[in-house]
Amino acid sequence: MYYYPITFHLSLCFLIISINFHLLLHFSASEVTKGGFSVKLIHKNSPRPIMRSLYSYTPQSQTNAYLGHYLMELSIGTPPINIEGVLDTGSDLIWTQCVACKNCYKQLNPLFDPQLSSTYSTMSCESEQCHKLDTTLCSIQNHCNYTYAYASASMTQGVLAQETITLTSTTGEAVSLEGVVFGCGHNNTGSFNDHEMGIIGLGGGPMSLISQMGYSFGSMKFSQCLVPFHSDISISSKMSFGDGSDVLGDDVVSTPLVIKEDNTPYFVTLLGISVGDTYIPFNISSKSVEKGNIFIDSGTPPTILPQQLYDQVVNEVRNQVALEPIENDQDLGSQLCYRTRIIEEVPMLIAHFEGADVQLTSTQTFIPPKDGVLCLGLTNTSSDGGIYGNFAQSNYLIGFDLERQMVSFKPVDCTKQ
Ligand SMILES: *[C@@H]1O[C@H](CO)[C@@H](O)[C@H](O)[C@H]1NC(C)=O
Ligand SMILES: *[C@@H]1O[C@H](CO)[C@@H](O)[C@H](O)[C@H]1NC(C)=O
Ligand SMILES: *[C@@H]1O[C@H](CO)[C@@H](O)[C@H](O)[C@H]1NC(C)=O
Ligand SMILES: *[C@@H]1O[C@H](CO)[C@@H](O)[C@H](O)[C@H]1NC(C)=O
Repeated sequence: MYYYPITFHLSLCFLIISINFHLLLHFSASEVTKGGFSVKLIHKNSPRPIMRSLYSYTPQSQTNAYLGHYLMELSIGTPPINIEGVLDTGSDLIWTQCVACKNCYKQLNPLFDPQLSSTYSTMSCESEQCHKLDTTLCSIQNHCNYTYAYASASMTQGVLAQETITLTSTTGEAVSLEGVVFGCGHNNTGSFNDHEMGIIGLGGGPMSLISQMGYSFGSMKFSQCLVPFHSDISISSKMSFGDGSDVLGDDVVSTPLVIKEDNTPYFVTLLGISVGDTYIPFNISSKSVEKGNIFIDSGTPPTILPQQLYDQVVNEVRNQVALEPIENDQDLGSQLCYRTRIIEEVPMLIAHFEGADVQLTSTQTFIPPKDGVLCLGLTNTSSDGGIYGNFAQSNYLIGFDLERQMVSFKPVDCTKQ
């Protein structure tokens, strides 16, 4: 899923593809280590398909990829109420649906009721945080009313507030953060499913969870190890924050983060992609590559590439896979798919980031949208920039070091973490 404040690049909206499957990850436990802490993510596949895509208005409709959302669990308020929100490194705001709802989508758990919490307070219009969001209005009660919209046409509108957020560890220890600024959403739209109580923004901007954690856990960094999309539902993924979230070892590769005016997405530079022995530069019509031409987004399932690069990668994969692709299947759209459970001779893809070659095996590149069908987890955009999606991020320990401004990748079996 690609979340983006409406004030930016709305042209990217239509890149969003939608989804048939449902993957939930619960951020359910943590251990405090050396000032940092880590949390386990447990994912579950919903037995029923998502009702509608989050991107129901997109031209590709809800057919050409799968819902690969990772849900993070945390508690909010005093007494604490559990919230499960979509983990999203592509946006900043943390928000949840709140009482009293003017327009909320259906959710299974009760809505957060600020009146029942002793630590809730609204942000005033004069607050620094109110000014950090572009789209705010002042209410007659001097409340900071925000609107935060995403490229997918999803949006949340409500009151900017502060609360105590608590993450719970396996050892029973609770890690609490006081005064975390979040959106208490009273008008929330988009086809969220009923497990998703909001979004937890982990982007680089000032309102994200990581930015608000700051140095609370020693250092400004976090890492994630996402289990592959099709993993057994009982298997956990893992997220670590602060000290102890370093990605270490001989097999670690790192690429610099590229700082741009828009500080939300984690931009890096993709030089090209290899399919087997064939190297395809990011832009064949240009010798130099633009810095920060792709960003790493846990909220977007497929990797999204500019048309020309996409076409070449897909053609090369098609040439190197000795199977007949599925043609004219309405459900699969224009994706490259095969009717098989395992592709025997699948070419290795390499994402050549600046200074870091990341090898992608069939686990990261082929996704089963339905039993007996495998599809290449890529899609296209008419934009010049791309998105490195969460299918490709799976089975890598990926560290975001916001002090050194580096992203590191280490191949790991995240199902065994
Ligand atoms: C919810 O927000 C949308 C978009 O700003 C607006 O058009 C609609 O009127 C709002 N609904 C309510 C009930 O406030
Ligand atoms: C601010 O939000 C509150 C609660 O959603 C609503 O009652 C009020 O009308 C809003 N005010 C403005 C100026 O948008
Ligand atoms: C993606 O590529 C297909 C053909 O491969 C094309 O029909 C479609 O319009 C493209 N979509 C976008 C968003 O550029
Ligand atoms: C490729 O390079 C050309 C020439 O510099 C530029 O006009 C075009 O926008 C670039 N395309 C992409 C996808 O970066």
